[in-house]
Amino acid sequence: MAITVKTVQTTPFEGQKPGTSGLRKKVKVFLEKNYTENFVQCILNANGSEISGSLLVLGGDGRFYCKEASELIVKICAANGVSKVLVGQNGILSTPAVSSLIRHNNALGGIVLTASHNPGGPDNDFGIKFNCRNGGPAPDEVTNEIYKLSTQIKEYKIVDGLTIDLGKLGVNNFEVEGKPFVVEVIDSVANYVNHMKEIFDFAKLKDFVSGASNGKPLKMRIDSMNGVTGPYVNDIFVNCLGASKDFVVHTTPLSDFGGLHPDPNLTYAKDLVDTVAKGDYDIGAAFDGDGDRNMIIGRSAFFVTPSDSLAVIAHYLECIPYFKKNGITGYARSMPTASAVDLVAKKLGKEIFEVPTGWKYFGNLMDANRLCLCGEESFGTGSNHIREKDGIWAVLAWLSIMQHTGKSIEDILKAHWAAYGRNYFTRYDYEECDLDPCNEMMATMEKLITSSEFVGKEYSSGGKTYKVKVADNFSYTDPVVNTVSTKQGLRIVFEDGSRIVMRLSGTGSSGATVRLYIDSYEKDNVLGKASEMLKPLIDIALEISQLPKYTGRNAPTVIT
Ligand code: G1P
Ligand code: ZN
Repeated sequence: MAITVKTVQTTPFEGQKPGTSGLRKKVKVFLEKNYTENFVQCILNANGSEISGSLLVLGGDGRFYCKEASELIVKICAANGVSKVLVGQNGILSTPAVSSLIRHNNALGGIVLTASHNPGGPDNDFGIKFNCRNGGPAPDEVTNEIYKLSTQIKEYKIVDGLTIDLGKLGVNNFEVEGKPFVVEVIDSVANYVNHMKEIFDFAKLKDFVSGASNGKPLKMRIDSMNGVTGPYVNDIFVNCLGASKDFVVHTTPLSDFGGLHPDPNLTYAKDLVDTVAKGDYDIGAAFDGDGDRNMIIGRSAFFVTPSDSLAVIAHYLECIPYFKKNGITGYARSMPTASAVDLVAKKLGKEIFEVPTGWKYFGNLMDANRLCLCGEESFGTGSNHIREKDGIWAVLAWLSIMQHTGKSIEDILKAHWAAYGRNYFTRYDYEECDLDPCNEMMATMEKLITSSEFVGKEYSSGGKTYKVKVADNFSYTDPVVNTVSTKQGLRIVFEDGSRIVMRLSGTGSSGATVRLYIDSYEKDNVLGKASEMLKPLIDIALEISQLPKYTGRNAPTVIT
């Protein structure tokens, strides 16, 4: 079919600035005339001449507007000289699957349609993110360029006459102004499942799940929260590992996530937590909308903080065939993540990196072969098998560790704390606050903590006293490319290694979300109740930041 390109005049929209992870706005905003078109055109333009003749991967988490946006993006790609688009069936691909596909197909990049863990549906959020050739989220240089272009855009290109059935697997050939253009609708899960089979020992895990290896079938509860992971979970845990169908729930991706807030934490994955708390499951796990986040809980809903999860996986990494084969390089975590993994790195003599919030900061280190495992406190865990965090990968890693040690999740954690000490950790989120007072709060706090007399100051609460050792607005120099990222969060480090971190979210779609992170290290007192152990430092953080005064909030919206 021969088709012609149409050039449409447009004007810039304000605020098309990608945040921590792509551009996220309300669906209604993306539906404004030319809004999505403008942004997609800017993504393509930011790639310069490389777009011509390129291969791109396209897909999203199945939320409202995903399918329509996929169809639209295919038309814009066709008009801009892209030669092939690999698109997930019905526009469905998890974020880790996109990353894997980009790498396996040597694509120029991928366009991921997701607002991750933000609620979906016509009144909620949508998002568009660009991933580069290495499979990872575009770094700041690229997102800054996209933003700059979005403030100058005058026209976009589209081929209106191109229609494809995204529900039908197969190759669709077109000719756009004399040049071939191919859209291949691919199975959303096959490539990813094969990738997992290369990393983990599925035969061993299958015996473990069925009980063939130890006479005790594993009871698991995997909750996809109506997000994109459902089909992946069914294939991996049920079809490949032989788990009972009853062990996997909410596995049909729904455009509004069935009203769930698809964020795997103790607040939003309540159904999972309540079920595992009263039942006798050995492991519970949940994922977010696009499948890159994970939460792990043990029997009786024993909670594994993401920071601890990272440290434990780091400790046992060799039990996963992929790492045994490829070797273990360095570890990394985002700055607000508790420093439990640092202790493992130190013991094992590995490099450890502390990067700003956002998975994009891990990519260069992985590409330079200095990093093989990393994580964020925000329920993100992953490795250099791709350039995104990977929820299902994390569960497979935990199953491997359970199989390897023969221990329960709680016992694995207790042994870990006994060996390394424990980083008690919590994050308080204050969602949808007014932006101006939050900016003022951050500015005032920054001034206070960076003043010369702040270091050495003592703060007391609940019988504990903390002395300030270092305080700053975190800045990071990428060790590979030497780019500097400034103002990445206010940080107060105390003499005993405990830390208070405060930053504003970069992923919200309206207002400001304040994140307060508390990391309190105990060498010996490792079996305390986290909320009690953390209380003194929380009170000190509220006092220093004056958060209740600025936000008008007496309690956080979410505690993790
Ligand atoms: C949040 C998390 C961050 C994560 C990002 C994308 O960003 O805090 O760790 O990388 O979502 O999943 P924030 O809203 O804090 O900017
Ligand atoms: Zn996500």
